[in-house]
Amino acid sequence: MSDPRTDAWQVIRTRSDATLAELFERDPERVGKLCGRIDTGEGGVLFDWSKTHLTDELLGDFEALAEAAGFAEMRRKLFAGEVVNGTENRAAEHPALRGVGKEASIEEAMALAARMKLLVEAIHDGALGEVNHLIHIGIGGSALGPALAVDALARDLKRCDVHVVSNVDGLALEEAFMACDPATTLIAVASKTFTTIETMTNAESALAWLRDNGVVDPYGRVVALTASPEKAVEWGVDETRVLPFSQSVGGRYSLWSSIGFPIAMAVGWEDFAAMLDGAARVDAHFRDTGGRANLPLRAAFADLYYARVRGAETRAVFAYDERLRLLPSYLQQLEMESNGKSVTVDGAPVDGPTAPITWGGVGTDAQHAVFQLLHQGTHLVPIEFIASVAPGDQLDLAHHRILLMNCFAQGAALMAGRASDDPARSYPGNRPSATILCDDLDPATLGALVAFHEHRTFANAVLMGINPFDQFGVELGKDIARKIEAGGERFDPSTEALLEAAGLA
Ligand code: F6P
Repeated sequence: MSDPRTDAWQVIRTRSDATLAELFERDPERVGKLCGRIDTGEGGVLFDWSKTHLTDELLGDFEALAEAAGFAEMRRKLFAGEVVNGTENRAAEHPALRGVGKEASIEEAMALAARMKLLVEAIHDGALGEVNHLIHIGIGGSALGPALAVDALARDLKRCDVHVVSNVDGLALEEAFMACDPATTLIAVASKTFTTIETMTNAESALAWLRDNGVVDPYGRVVALTASPEKAVEWGVDETRVLPFSQSVGGRYSLWSSIGFPIAMAVGWEDFAAMLDGAARVDAHFRDTGGRANLPLRAAFADLYYARVRGAETRAVFAYDERLRLLPSYLQQLEMESNGKSVTVDGAPVDGPTAPITWGGVGTDAQHAVFQLLHQGTHLVPIEFIASVAPGDQLDLAHHRILLMNCFAQGAALMAGRASDDPARSYPGNRPSATILCDDLDPATLGALVAFHEHRTFANAVLMGINPFDQFGVELGKDIARKIEAGGERFDPSTEALLEAAGLA
């Protein structure tokens, strides 16, 4: 008996491989068909997928694939707070943190958010004395979201100077110490499990730094952000400064929970709430929109087309906005930790490549570094440009005009190419890109951008039949590190020699 998913892929692979230029020539409606907008409150975001190879036929084929993959049912489960993470028997309730999802989960999330708001506002009002700095200690999902949002939103709104420290390399923490006055510094320890060795080691050293610099009650300067509140209390944090979140919120989906405490500290509660509202707009769009008009789903169609039909092994994201310089590393965890899998939800081998490698940088810098390969190299790299119509800076408008013109020029050049008699000077063109154009990069828009990528990642996973919410691939290395620390075990000759050379044997 034929499998509808395999059938859908077979049809997709038979579609013509017309060039982008031909696709625009054939269909004058193309821009209208492949651009969509989501309102985020005061502004909105335009998603232009017209410079990809998606066509009416391919969109129809992918809609058939989505049906065969049970996309609508999986999406219903996601928003209903049902189990979508089978290997860990958990729901994935990050949308509930934004007010979209199962009623009981929303209520719980709102109650926890109210507690966090009280604490943030009390600190801003001086309840813990003068607080000028916050050292936020966490790693992976407990650091990347806060780092992105603080860097993007807290440039001119500094209510509190936030330093996000993730690496266990002591240099990272030392750098934060150098920028902070211990007498006016709070420490946020962010860890879903409250067991991660890097975070707990950094947290101990931060306490020691406070103590060594005359802070009489270092634990009194600590706020814990965790889904394991009992462990934080056991470690020494007073219950009133433990901000919990639900186990059903995955680490890389947790910036909306108490893990977002440093964001609220940096920008104030109102802007943090606006970020959640922007994300909720995308939740509503993703939940309520069918087929190709669903923008995260449509983006997933293109992602899969390039990964599985055209053999693209990477995808690149270039933010033409300095405020989004951390977006590529945020997306690396979101996409690669979620979808870098080799088995389906049933444990069978996947039927094609899964998450491409996500990489990127900021424009215009990247143009002078890696764009040579994108224009003339041998790899096919689908590209995403992200920009804001409104500038973030106060300088002469020339800066922003040059920035935007360059962004649009790159997309046009990649697509059009240019023939030349001299092979070294010719550009093949027909290279795909998508452009996300925000009216303004306000807190709601940042929330919308992140939620868009969360749902796109989920949609990719469902279409591939994999579970995006576990991450067992990170465990083996941690396990071996623990064994090395414990001693008494032998490893391969190369590892043994390295341990010996570093004096760790
Ligand atoms: O090692 C991977 C990981 O489990 C991520 O998924 C997670 O975001 C990170 O470690 C940090 O975990 P925790 O928040 O429990 O410290």
